[in-house]
Amino acid sequence: MSHFDQILSEAQAAFAAAADVPALEQAKARFLGKSGSLTELLKGLGKLDPDARRAAGAEINQCKSAVEAALEARREALRASQLETQLRAEALDVSLPGRGMGVGGLHPVNRTLERFETLFRSIGFEVADGPEIEGDWHNFTALNTPENHPARSMHDTFYLQDAPGVLLRTHTSPVQIRSMQAHAAKYADADVMPELRIIAPGRVYRVDSDATHSPMFHQVEGLWIGENISFAGLKGVIIDFLKRFFETDELQVRFRPSFFPFTEPSAEIDFAFMSGPNKGRWLEIAGCGMVHPNVLKNGDIDAQRYTGFAFGMGLDRLTMLRYGINDLRLFFENDLRFLTQFKD
Ligand code: PHE
Repeated sequence: MSHFDQILSEAQAAFAAAADVPALEQAKARFLGKSGSLTELLKGLGKLDPDARRAAGAEINQCKSAVEAALEARREALRASQLETQLRAEALDVSLPGRGMGVGGLHPVNRTLERFETLFRSIGFEVADGPEIEGDWHNFTALNTPENHPARSMHDTFYLQDAPGVLLRTHTSPVQIRSMQAHAAKYADADVMPELRIIAPGRVYRVDSDATHSPMFHQVEGLWIGENISFAGLKGVIIDFLKRFFETDELQVRFRPSFFPFTEPSAEIDFAFMSGPNKGRWLEIAGCGMVHPNVLKNGDIDAQRYTGFAFGMGLDRLTMLRYGINDLRLFFENDLRFLTQFKD
């Protein structure tokens, strides 16, 4: 084997052994670097006479080209395999099924609320809102509730420490006052005040806790004020609502005389299914009545001219009946085994 063949095969072996580009550059230096074997040979040419120099020069350059070609081939091979590795590492398996978004569902009480709002909006009611931390005046006084009324006692109501006269609202009825005042102010200069028709859903608080009572629960207040609003209208609205809400005409509704300081006359609303598992059992669902003139006055409404009815319905109760739930506490425990049953 000639000296040149040997250099070439050494170079090919060294290049093949280089596992990456830096190693390859080092291997290159051994042959083509400043003191590489081919460079040394080229330096030696000067000592030869012209003819020998030409012949040797041609041979060296030929060898040098062969080494450079081998180097380039190896470079190319390393680049290709590096790309291959990278592509494999970054590969996406497009056939893998997606992970899904884990979409949640509405809480059953919110489902009832949405249904409630849809049904009442369809007969021209708007949804009103009020604070959960209320003043004594809105929650009791303005609602014609006297100083010595049991609802005002510490046993029934959560008062805020260090804030006299401030409490967690015990019902949604204070929204009646707020809505009437806002409505009266808005139409203060009008000849005829348009009817006020609102429902006000929300959380309310009482010192109470067992399977059918929770210290926090949900009510929906309803209020319809206008000229010639009557108890007959109240009955129509409620009976129609219950039939639509429970999607059956097979129910009976009764208005049992009762007392609330803010309505006169007042009634408790009971209804009974005429078929199904609860058939024939009277279920209490709301309090209602004609808005007391004192309450209209406190809401800045002309009690000579306008009348109205109001009701306060238990949203949790309605939900329990609709879905056949027997323990109110299930609503507030956040147990997914319970809640996921209401996902669509
Ligand atoms: N606020 C009363 C309650 O919580 C219900 C009610 C509302 C009664 C409106 C009459 C009119 O028991």
